[in-house]
Amino acid sequence: MTELERQIRRRLTFAIISHPDSGKTTITEKLLLFGGAIHIAGAVKSGKKVRASVSDFMEIEKDRGISISTSVMGFEYNGRKINLLDTPGHADFSEDTYRGLSAVDSALLVIDSVKGVEERTLKLCEVCRMRHTPIATFMNKLDREGKDPMELLDEAERELAIGVRPVTWPVGQGRSFKGVYSLVERKLILFHAGEVERPTEFVTIDDLSDPVLEQKVGTSLAAKLRDDVALISAIYPPLDLDEYLSGEVTPVFFGSAINNFGIRELLDTLTSVAPCPTPKVSEERIVLPEEEKFSGFVFKIHANMNPRHRDRVAFLRICSGKFERNQTYFHVRSGKPFRTANPTAFMAQDSEVVNEAWPGDIIGIHDTGTFKIGDTVTEGEAVNFKGIPSFAPQIFRYIVNADPEKDKQYRKGLDQLAEEGVVQIFSKPNHHNTRVLGVVGQLQLEVLQYRMEHEYKALCSYRPIEMTIAHWITSDDEKALKTFVDEHARYILIDIRNTHVFMSESPWSYERIKAKNPAIRFYPTSEMVESRA
Ligand code: G4P
Repeated sequence: MTELERQIRRRLTFAIISHPDSGKTTITEKLLLFGGAIHIAGAVKSGKKVRASVSDFMEIEKDRGISISTSVMGFEYNGRKINLLDTPGHADFSEDTYRGLSAVDSALLVIDSVKGVEERTLKLCEVCRMRHTPIATFMNKLDREGKDPMELLDEAERELAIGVRPVTWPVGQGRSFKGVYSLVERKLILFHAGEVERPTEFVTIDDLSDPVLEQKVGTSLAAKLRDDVALISAIYPPLDLDEYLSGEVTPVFFGSAINNFGIRELLDTLTSVAPCPTPKVSEERIVLPEEEKFSGFVFKIHANMNPRHRDRVAFLRICSGKFERNQTYFHVRSGKPFRTANPTAFMAQDSEVVNEAWPGDIIGIHDTGTFKIGDTVTEGEAVNFKGIPSFAPQIFRYIVNADPEKDKQYRKGLDQLAEEGVVQIFSKPNHHNTRVLGVVGQLQLEVLQYRMEHEYKALCSYRPIEMTIAHWITSDDEKALKTFVDEHARYILIDIRNTHVFMSESPWSYERIKAKNPAIRFYPTSEMVESRA
């Protein structure tokens, strides 16, 4: 086996997806603890403060108590090098989350067993399904009186449109929670409430009729476990790895993150079944991780990680070959050479300079304005990776410079933040000063204002716009496109790549115009235009 193949097999790059408050941050911390990447005594009790120091980069995140940016954490476990991407759970930052998902090979879905499948869970799973990303599921908070586990499985299968395959099964729930039974290893893993530090107790029970079960969990829970296991075995086939890897079924684990219960079993299973770096689709061809030549793409740009410097960091996912520090590579969009002296690997807030990186790794590259989201870097071949989405904005505003003396700062801030993907910016053709912002959530507007003020010393304000829906437009017939654009000039904007965008006031008016103009193709996101044009 070559060094490249060995490194690929070791890599496991995944993201945790969940509805806010399901326990994503808590699980991230526990995973890092198991991986020896952090050592926080009593982390379980320290709550928000510890969380802020583990995965939050920006001050604003701490103020608001939500995780805005995707950060990357690397650690070793079970012989695998794990790259965990922390993605924002807040709906207003879904673009950032969706882009983060383009850089991982699998996902861990966390569901709050009290609340069941929630709205964000649905959306995120849909994105994974579109890409056939394998998903493992952790039903959290079994220490609370929640929904019945059978009902949770049913709900997940029905609402997420994915087959469920329980790997562990809870014994009791809430106050009577005793632990989980591993259906695969046939062993009972016992939970001791309030004793997080105590080593987990395992009891191997090959035959569930063994009376040791009564001794360990009591008569009624033993009887219930026997019934449940009989029922589950009748309903759900054992986990088929190929079905998991193709995203058709999800292995399901039960536990309680805050009590550190069930996390080790989850991590042990993930490190043995979760996929190593997978092939990535480009406009031109499929790129295999085993290819000798290096390639990667930028899925995120982050400014001001160090508040004392006005620097940006481009996050690059390595897709193939070996990346080496100080090598000269090729920046496909500009056609120019690119070289970096200080590529960094991330560990929560720490980062260190790395000399080499392998497929599946995510490195940070100091950037002074070279990169845009979606850019590809290679050893010379012009490939453009697909699937780094730019999401359909749902809220639009005119943006106005509220302090005309700071025009230079205002323009620079706006351009850089748009390149970072904080907002999408459109302008009127031939009126570049009239700028329209598009965002997915209201909070992005507030973040833009905050960052313009604190990072660029520029003030901006918003004015309402009557349009509510954007569609990117193209046509095979250039004349028809020009006529359409001229006739609907009031509704036409251009995006940063100079593609025309047609704005409508309502779904009804959009449908009407679309029906009247069969020569024009309408796309809800710019990504779709590029991949079909
Ligand atoms: P998120 O990142 O998905 O938003 O969730 P986070 O980990 O912040 O967890 C949300 C809340 O759920 C936290 O409580 C956390 O302590 C709690 N939690 C996480 N796992 C479990 C679990 O297994 N059982 C129970 N009962 N609770 C759990 P909080 O009150 O919002 O914050 P804190 O004051 O406890 O830090």
